Amino acid sequence: MKIKLGVFFGGKSVEHEVSIITAIQAIENMDKEKYDIIPIYITKDNKMYCGEQIGDIKCYKNIDELLSSSTQVTLAQKDNKVCLIRCDKKMFENIVYDYIDIAFPIVHGTNVEDGTLQGFLKMFNLPYVGCDVTSSAVGMDKYIFKCLLKDNDIPIINCKCYTADQYNADLNGIIKSIEESINYPVIVKPVNLGSSVGIKIAKDRAALEDAIANAFTYAKKVLVERAVMNLKEVNCSVVGDYEECEASECEEPVKTDEILSFNDKYISGGKKMGVKSDNEKSMNAGVLKLPAEISPEMRAKIQDLSKRTFKVLGCTGVVRIDFIIDQDTNDVFVNEINTIPGSLSFHLWKATGVKYSNHLDKMINLALKRNREEQNMTFSFDSNILAGYENGFGGTKGKLGK
Ligand SMILES: Nc1ncnc2c1ncn2[C@@H]1O[C@H](COP(=O)(O)OP(=O)(O)O)[C@@H](O)[C@H]1O
Ligand SMILES: [Mg+2]
Repeated sequence: MKIKLGVFFGGKSVEHEVSIITAIQAIENMDKEKYDIIPIYITKDNKMYCGEQIGDIKCYKNIDELLSSSTQVTLAQKDNKVCLIRCDKKMFENIVYDYIDIAFPIVHGTNVEDGTLQGFLKMFNLPYVGCDVTSSAVGMDKYIFKCLLKDNDIPIINCKCYTADQYNADLNGIIKSIEESINYPVIVKPVNLGSSVGIKIAKDRAALEDAIANAFTYAKKVLVERAVMNLKEVNCSVVGDYEECEASECEEPVKTDEILSFNDKYISGGKKMGVKSDNEKSMNAGVLKLPAEISPEMRAKIQDLSKRTFKVLGCTGVVRIDFIIDQDTNDVFVNEINTIPGSLSFHLWKATGVKYSNHLDKMINLALKRNREEQNMTFSFDSNILAGYENGFGGTKGKLGK
C-alpha cells in the first residue's frame, strides 16, 4: 500500500507565499508510486484546507475562490489513524475526509516553522519530516541560536538583544549600549523573522533609532550586531540526523543592495519563481554563484561548521546554514539556519548529482527512523500519586511534598 503523505504548507507567516511555492514544487517531484500525496494548505488565519485544486499553483491567484471550492479540515485521532476531519460536513458526507501516515511540513517563518506546526503534529504521534520542536524553535530565534553556537565554540558575530519592554522604557540606554559595545555601522534585525523582512543597516544614531523602531513593529525582541560592510555570503545545506550527516556544495547569493533583500531572494530572479516539475530552476536562487567563489580551504571549513551547527542544534532532515565571510579579515561566521529551506535546498544537492525525488525520500525515511526511535522510548511512569487524591484536594494525604 502507498504511504499517505500529508504535505502541510502556508500558515500565518510573512513567508506564506514562498512556502506555497516550495511545497508545490516538492509535491510535483515526489514519487507518486510510493506516496499518495495529500496537499494541506494552511491559510494566513491558520485554517487547513484540502481539495483537488490545493496542489495546483495556478489556483493561488484567487485564494477566496480556491477556498470556496475546497474542504476545510482538522486533524484528529480516530480508529488508530490520524485523520483529516471535515469541519463543515454535509449530510451525505463522511466526517473523515482522509487519513495520513506521515506529515511533511513545508512551511517557512515564525508561527509555523518555529516548532509550532511540529508540536501540533507531535501531539498526534505522527511522524513528521524535518527538525523536531526544539531545533525548529531554537533555529528560528536568531538570538538563542547564536547563544547556543557561541557556547559550542562555533563562530558567530556577537550581538546584543533587546526587548520591547526595554525599548519602551529606555531607548537612550539601548542606543548608548550599542554605541559603546558595537559602534556603527550596525545591522538591526527582528529576532525571529526571515526573508530580510524588518532588517536595516544603520550608520548613525538617527538611522539606528529608525531601524530599531522599524524592527520592533515585527517582533518583541530585536537583535543588533556589527554590520560587515565588505562581506561575502555563502550557504551550505546539510542532510541527515544526530547519527550521520553530510554537507552539500556551497553557493554564493549575490545582493543588489546593501543587504540581501527579499527582492534578491525571490523576485530579481523572477522567472525562477515559476514552478518547474524538473526543478530546473530553484525558487530561492535569485542571482547565485554555484559553487561559491571561495578557496577549497574555506569550502571545507564552511562544510565542517555546517555539520557541527546541524549536530549542536539536533537537526533532522535537510537544513540550510548561511554564513557571512568578512573579506577584510577572511573570518567566517555562521549567520543563521533555515530549518525548512526554500525549495528544500535541492539545487545545492543537485550539484552533487542527487535526484529531487531521492532527496525527498531521504527526508521522509529520516522522519520514519526518528518516529520509530521515539516509539521505543519510555514516556510513561507508573505511580500511585493520584491515589492520594481519593477525597479531593481537601485531605492532607494528597499534599505534594517538594
Ligand atoms: N552582520 C551583518 N553585516 C552585514 N550584512 C548582514 C549582516 N547580517 C545580515 N546581513 C545581511 O542581511 C541579510 C538578511 O539577514 P539574515 O540574518 O540572513 O536574516 P533573514 O532571516 O531575514 O534572512 C543577509 O542575507 C545579509 O545580506
Ligand atoms: Mg538570511
